[in-house]
Amino acid sequence: MTQPSVVKSALPAAVAGLARRRDRAFGDGAELFYDAPVHIERGDGVWLYDVDGTRYLDLYNNVPCVGHANPRVASAVGEQMATLNVHSRYLHAAAVEYAERVVGLHDDGFESMVTACSGTEANEVAVMMARTATGARGIICTDSTYHGNSLQIGAMTSLPVGETRHGVRSITAPETYRPPRPGWSVDDLCDHYVAELESTIEGLERDGLGFAALMICPIFANEGLPDVPAGYLRRAVDVVHDAGGLVIADEVQAGFCRTGSWWGYQYQAIPPDIVTMGKPMGNGVPVSGVVASHELVTAFRSAHHYFNTYAASPIQAAAGNAVIDEIVDRDLRSSVVAAGTRLLEGLTACSDPRIGDVRGRGLFLAVEWVVPGTTEPDPTGAHAMVEELKRRGMLVGTDGPHASVIKIRPPLVFGVEHADLFLDAFAAALTALPAE
Ligand SMILES: Cc1ncc(COP(=O)(O)O)c(C=O)c1O
Repeated sequence: MTQPSVVKSALPAAVAGLARRRDRAFGDGAELFYDAPVHIERGDGVWLYDVDGTRYLDLYNNVPCVGHANPRVASAVGEQMATLNVHSRYLHAAAVEYAERVVGLHDDGFESMVTACSGTEANEVAVMMARTATGARGIICTDSTYHGNSLQIGAMTSLPVGETRHGVRSITAPETYRPPRPGWSVDDLCDHYVAELESTIEGLERDGLGFAALMICPIFANEGLPDVPAGYLRRAVDVVHDAGGLVIADEVQAGFCRTGSWWGYQYQAIPPDIVTMGKPMGNGVPVSGVVASHELVTAFRSAHHYFNTYAASPIQAAAGNAVIDEIVDRDLRSSVVAAGTRLLEGLTACSDPRIGDVRGRGLFLAVEWVVPGTTEPDPTGAHAMVEELKRRGMLVGTDGPHASVIKIRPPLVFGVEHADLFLDAFAAALTALPAE
């Protein structure tokens, strides 16, 4: 979600000057976080340091998953850069090994990988793959999602139910916190959301688009990390398969141990057909990928002759292999569970009428900021809390369809000791921030 624009006149002269130059260089409207932007100079693990030496605990960035300035990744990439950097049309053992390792981290049935450079590109590949396999065009996403910014994938951004863009239609993002009708049971909710999916598939068929795939982020990260009615996702997958469609799991945010499982689809216990990955794969080196069965990937390659200049390169492999080594050798999956549990328990224990809900899993948590005594979203209050936390050296952001969710999503190397620092700051911020 966009944040309020920075009021430059209220900033220190040096910061305002750089922000003005940035507007000129980047064009007005290039988003900056926080009322007074953070001018960072370097990072180290979970810490960011600004030009004045102020230290911030990073609870926002998921790309540097094995830590800012990770020495193992930096030296692997540096050494590779100093040795060889070519595109993928040559044999290279590390590039092959990287694809084998990523595929091997998935459930049985995932056999081959197409590599790309961004989450958007991975999702483009997945859509093309599903359309090739099914011979149909229609794609279904949720109405408050974000899967990327190209013409095709950007068509899915905040697509209202009932509209069609580039062969895409949307369904309501499932949730339990603000159900479509108050008082509905979990079964009522599941029936409602499943019926909406079924009728959307029927509509695509009736209108001649056919049905190729449902694309979802298994944890609905951009939808505000809602709790999904138990049983809905499994039923949705069955509906999709019965209709001859494929399920695409966008793991760009959910993947690589973010939830404490390797993949969000494992945490949700659903079997997708195509999985896309991105952000954390290269710890900052652009790496993304799509895994599926050998048959699906081969059919895609024969139909599209896909080539991506920087993808499946030795540089990507060096970064990607080092990231997997770090996650495995440091057992980050376990530490994510430990730190995430501490955060979740600590935040849940904060009894404050402005906190409507605390949810999430592993190192991806959401604090729903509401008008006290209601479930009405309070984006202004959420923004004020984010600013208060920043004053206390804690960097978080807002998200969700109303920008009322405080999003906590630190690098995976965030430990229990960092969780305790944050919880202390959070409690102090609650006290410092007057409740209206
Ligand atoms: C769930 C999800 N999918 C895909 C993307 C797009 O990734 P990229 O910005 O690397 O194209 C994003 C980016 O925020 C995302 O959150």
